[in-house]
Amino acid sequence: MGLPQTVETGANVKRKRVSEDSPARTHQSQLQQKRIKLLDSRKQLPIWQRQKNIRDALRDHDVLILSGETGSGKSTQVPQFLLDQPWCGFPGKIAVTQPRRVAAISLARRVAEEMGTPLGSSSPASKVGYSVRFDESTSPSTRIKFLTEGMLLQEMLRDASLSQYKCVIVDEVHERSVNIDLILGFLKQLQTRRKDLKVVVMSATADADSLQRFFAAQILEDTQHDPKPVSSDSRANGDPEMDADDASWHGFGDEVQRSSSNIATCHVEGRQYPVITRYLDNPTEDTIEAALHRIFQIHCKEPTPGDLLVFMTGQEAIQSLQKLVEEYALGLTTDYPKMLVLPLFAALPQAAQQLIFQPAPRNTRKVILTTNIAETSVTVPGVRFVVDTGKAKVKQFRNRLGLDSLLVKQISKSSADQRKGRAGREAAGQCYRLYTEEAYKSLDKDSTPEVLRCDLSQAVLTMKARGVGDVLRFPLLTPPPKEAMEKALLQLLELGALDEHGNISPIGRKIARLPLTPALGRVIIEAATSEMDCLVEVIDIVACLSVEHIFLAIDTDEGREKAQVARRQLLRRQGDHLSYLAAVQAYAAEQSDRRRWADDHMISHRAMQSVMDERIVKCFLRGFSSNVARACPDGSYKTFAGNQTVAIHPSSVLFGRKVEAILYNQFVYTNKAYARDVSVVQLRWLEEALDGMA
Ligand code: CDP
Repeated sequence: MGLPQTVETGANVKRKRVSEDSPARTHQSQLQQKRIKLLDSRKQLPIWQRQKNIRDALRDHDVLILSGETGSGKSTQVPQFLLDQPWCGFPGKIAVTQPRRVAAISLARRVAEEMGTPLGSSSPASKVGYSVRFDESTSPSTRIKFLTEGMLLQEMLRDASLSQYKCVIVDEVHERSVNIDLILGFLKQLQTRRKDLKVVVMSATADADSLQRFFAAQILEDTQHDPKPVSSDSRANGDPEMDADDASWHGFGDEVQRSSSNIATCHVEGRQYPVITRYLDNPTEDTIEAALHRIFQIHCKEPTPGDLLVFMTGQEAIQSLQKLVEEYALGLTTDYPKMLVLPLFAALPQAAQQLIFQPAPRNTRKVILTTNIAETSVTVPGVRFVVDTGKAKVKQFRNRLGLDSLLVKQISKSSADQRKGRAGREAAGQCYRLYTEEAYKSLDKDSTPEVLRCDLSQAVLTMKARGVGDVLRFPLLTPPPKEAMEKALLQLLELGALDEHGNISPIGRKIARLPLTPALGRVIIEAATSEMDCLVEVIDIVACLSVEHIFLAIDTDEGREKAQVARRQLLRRQGDHLSYLAAVQAYAAEQSDRRRWADDHMISHRAMQSVMDERIVKCFLRGFSSNVARACPDGSYKTFAGNQTVAIHPSSVLFGRKVEAILYNQFVYTNKAYARDVSVVQLRWLEEALDGMA
């Protein structure tokens, strides 16, 4: 028998006092205070009114297609609405896919705050975590996991049934990347085997028809063999809970209705204040100059406070513009607020990406220079002005060259409208389009899905590695021409990634694990064979091919002659590849001033730095990613592959030091797991290196 509750002994009074004041208790109460504070703003989100509809829809259907403006609350609220549903069970998990790391991490952080739970691996009790390349932050009790599309596809390699999840939410489907299309196809197939799996497809554009047809087609096929019961209270049969007049629930035509009884659709109106749009009178070629001019016009002439969001094409344009804005800002008098210029692009290290979410200091205007990351994927608070160059870098398969290239292209009307909408999330705003109104009118309505414009060999290899036999019958939302699929199959056969029966070969499996196109992956694997044994050199060359051009472009004859002389020792008569290698080796050997060396040889210092960072990949590729571990908050290290705890061996010069991440040659187990022959690596290198090559 224990003591009656009212009797307090000296010992348990003391224990109680300690636990009340303990740091853990304080932290817990801070989390709860934050949760309660955020609840009010959650209730203001347009989607809050829809939570019953959403829960009911998934109680009665297997698939929910949810469309709603960016900022309406889809990504943050829907997983929370579903977590306590009986079908989700315990400890059923919900996966939410994101196209980008920055969104996956910031959403996980936000949802953890809203739920009053610690984030990811920081506590074993954490309910919300994330998983992005090289950074998995989850705990045994994680229930909601935000992960990049690539990571979900990786998880499917280990567990094709995704058995730990009760629900997969595919977010940002309007982006229509190949990864999204592949995931939709896999989920559609998986639902025929896993009747308990719910799928939510979320999109910022209202066009749900094609998604509905896509999922309906599969259900039709399945019902021929295994008829799904039509629930008696589903909308198709008149759900009394749902408002029949509610125009935002799309009705189905009779014929589709029968086959679509497992698909619900819902549209959430966004919160949008009016945005005034302004165009240029005459077209301009120089978007950097035009953006610079417009940024200062707004900053100096607009008395309204509010931050600027400037959509540029890519990293180089952003960095050039950042330099210019910062230079010009130095010349501003103290009559004007200060300017804080923040870049945002995928290859930017995480810590720098997260800066955009911090409020600007007093009397300062944030000027965020972004790629299309900020179009729909992340919500940046405080923005009132949008400047849109109307362009974006897109991957495009060039038939003649037989390879993918990144090309600067005009965006679509729907992208332009998304960009504009970013100015009106919190108050009325203004959007300056750096093109004419006629140019806007001539834009394509929607962007072409990536699957129709890129080389399909990587997508086909992804399918093969996950057990798809007949890739021509794999369900794709927009099926590419049969010839394009056949060409990809042929290419994989030529690379030795498939055997003559079309099955994936051992080499194909290795290539599928590399974040490279199959062709470059094959090159690396060839270089690593004992006959060739030139992996280090080949990786230097692959890195040069993956960054901006290392030899600076020169337009005049005179300049070209000068460059010939300056680079004489680096140029190889065999051609560019070996010349790149010579340049990298000479740069790496330079001990004193690498920047000067680069200037003297008319070589891009920045490109060289990227190449050097990417050289780290050679370590990675040698061990195929299994030999790197990152530091955890408690001082231990965890391997990327397998998430195993490992300590630095006492024989290492790094013993006792805490560094961000380590690379090691040996994994030994004595009284515990040790890494031996250890070197420091920076996560940023790995991230940038592999992202640049992806
Ligand atoms: O998915 P959707 O674009 O519909 O909206 P969301 O990402 O769920 O964002 C809803 C709101 O949550 C935003 O307007 C922000 O106020 C807030 N939010 C945030 O503060 N930090 C984030 N990382 C994400 C959202």
